[in-house]
Amino acid sequence: MKNLIAKFFPKTELRSVYKEDTTGKEKRRLRFFRPNYKFVRNDGVSEINVADLNVRIKDNHILKDINLTIPDKKITCILGPSGCGKTTLLRTLNRLIDSVEGVKITGQILVNGEDIISSGPEITRLRRNMGLISQRPTPLPMSIFDNIAYGCRIHGIRNRRKLRLIVKYYLEAAGLWDEVKDRLRTPAVRLSIGQQQRLCLARSLAVEPQFILADEATSALDPISSKTIEELFVKLKENYSIVMVTHTLRQAYRIADNVVFMYLGEIIEAGPADQVFNHPQHELTKKYLSGAFS
Ligand SMILES: Nc1ncnc2c1ncn2[C@@H]1O[C@H](COP(=O)(O)OP(=O)(O)OP(=O)(O)O)[C@@H](O)[C@H]1O
Ligand SMILES: [Mg+2]
Repeated sequence: MKNLIAKFFPKTELRSVYKEDTTGKEKRRLRFFRPNYKFVRNDGVSEINVADLNVRIKDNHILKDINLTIPDKKITCILGPSGCGKTTLLRTLNRLIDSVEGVKITGQILVNGEDIISSGPEITRLRRNMGLISQRPTPLPMSIFDNIAYGCRIHGIRNRRKLRLIVKYYLEAAGLWDEVKDRLRTPAVRLSIGQQQRLCLARSLAVEPQFILADEATSALDPISSKTIEELFVKLKENYSIVMVTHTLRQAYRIADNVVFMYLGEIIEAGPADQVFNHPQHELTKKYLSGAFS
């Protein structure tokens, strides 16, 4: 098996983790392969710790004393009524909030131990590490192939064979390869909305993030596409830490490992999904879960 892989993928492009199979025989299986070695990220723990975070935009105090941990390789669902600050929180995590006029941020956001508020890491590196998927897919006005290859080219990958490997690999990871493999050169905007969303996911994954931030990523999709994305997230959490904002309680019930419930800019309750859903501690959480407001 090893020889076979080495034959098809030159050494520099192979990055794999071999693991003893469960029967303990010598047979090994390929668990993990990424063609994009240039970006190969640190595969250690990918965790975010937020401490005493406050975000103000002009006179509005939008996020209030947020303390939160986004654990490694789990799905954390952020729930809460409209306007409670979910999107603002996601946009603060990848510093997209910086572009808002009059924004003031205090507190600490440690991404793998590095404070992204005070020390100000290079923004491109930070954003690359956090793939953001928004409510409406935003394919670039170019072909399916180029949508995935674009970010890689920007980061210096020019080799066409390598780009082809990367495009195939991430379209497969996003569950789209079989549907588009015969029309990679057609404009991405011709895809259905559900396909476009998976394309955007593939595009984010192609620059090797550790985190996926999804802001109502399925709310504009039909039920089948929505289910496909959900299932993808469950698979992807093996390799990525996922933060997902959703208005769909049933979706959170299905896939959340951890739940954060927000209300008027504050975190009211957070914890393992089982605990928050089955034994909510706070009256507001109970009301929200019972559908008293949304
Ligand atoms: N650029 C801005 N300037 C002023 N206020 C803002 C700005 N962006 C967001 N807000 C305010 O911050 C609060 C939180 O907004 P945010 O978009 O984070 O809420 P949300 O929980 O994502 O809501 P929804 O579920 O409707 O998407 C809202 O009161 C909103 O009006
Ligand atoms: Mg929002």
